[in-house]
Amino acid sequence: MFVSDLLKGKRILITGGGSGLGKSTAKRLLQLGAEIVICGRRVALLEETSAELRAATGGVIGYKPLDIRDPEAVEATIAEIWAEAPLDGLINNAAGNFLARTEDLSHRALDAVVAIVLHGTAYMTLACGKRWIADKHPGNVLSIVTTYAWTGSAYVVPSVMGKAAVLAMTRSLAVEWGPKGIRFNAIAPGPFPTEGAWERLVPRKDLAETFETRNALGRPGRHEELTNLVAYLMADQSAYITGEVVTIDGAEWLTGAGQFNFARSLTDADWAEMASRKK
Ligand code: COA
Repeated sequence: MFVSDLLKGKRILITGGGSGLGKSTAKRLLQLGAEIVICGRRVALLEETSAELRAATGGVIGYKPLDIRDPEAVEATIAEIWAEAPLDGLINNAAGNFLARTEDLSHRALDAVVAIVLHGTAYMTLACGKRWIADKHPGNVLSIVTTYAWTGSAYVVPSVMGKAAVLAMTRSLAVEWGPKGIRFNAIAPGPFPTEGAWERLVPRKDLAETFETRNALGRPGRHEELTNLVAYLMADQSAYITGEVVTIDGAEWLTGAGQFNFARSLTDADWAEMASRKK
């Protein structure tokens, strides 16, 4: 889909890059010539993923152990990264989430999710943005949100609040920092199965199937479909796109939203019967 050196010369940090979609993204960007740094809380996992992706792609990948909820650790890690070489891009991929009835949540449960999704994303963005502005270096920030950032969703309310705020940040800073050469976009993925997310969010196997197929295409997303979109948005060829959120969900949210979409379940016999009622 792309020339193999599309991202050559780009140094990109992916939060939560040790597993799931972050790992798939790291692999795709390495294949396209980017230099990657992944960060996350689990050192052994970061080490294992870096070694695996280095061997698989022959690319340059490093890692930094980091809990993005800790602003001092974020500042120290970003300073360390910059001392090696400045970044060109930041992918805010790390998230925290679980399915729960909202009345069951303690304030610590609320904070646990919002601290990762909102505060962690903001700390990372600020630490990179301040340096890009000071160095007059162009920057590119891509944040992974979800479609419930604007539709809302029951049973994941702390995540909804965090993701809605990250989308608001994306649109706001696209304007404020656009003149400084920094662009901001978001991607709202539908169901892209990963072990971590499905374990936390889909408690039963029969629900997983419904969750993955209740969209216009009747199937879950493939990781490469998402990672190619990330590659496009991180490339200079998409430079005029900023302040945007790109939905990649097989029309999942629209399927749930359209008032008469229930008619998808009508049979040919139902339609014939409707037609026979015409005067
Ligand atoms: N339902 C209700 N409350 C929950 C919960 C659940 N499933 N999981 C955790 N909590 C509550 C805990 O009970 C605790 O509150 P309490 O002290 O009042 O009992 C609070 O949340 C913090 O829990 P803790 O386990 O200490 O949080 P943590 O900071 O170690 O972990 C999470 C943060 C909970 C978001 C954890 O799932 C995580 O680290 N996830 C990262 C990966 C991830 O979620 N990725 C997103 C995939 S979609």
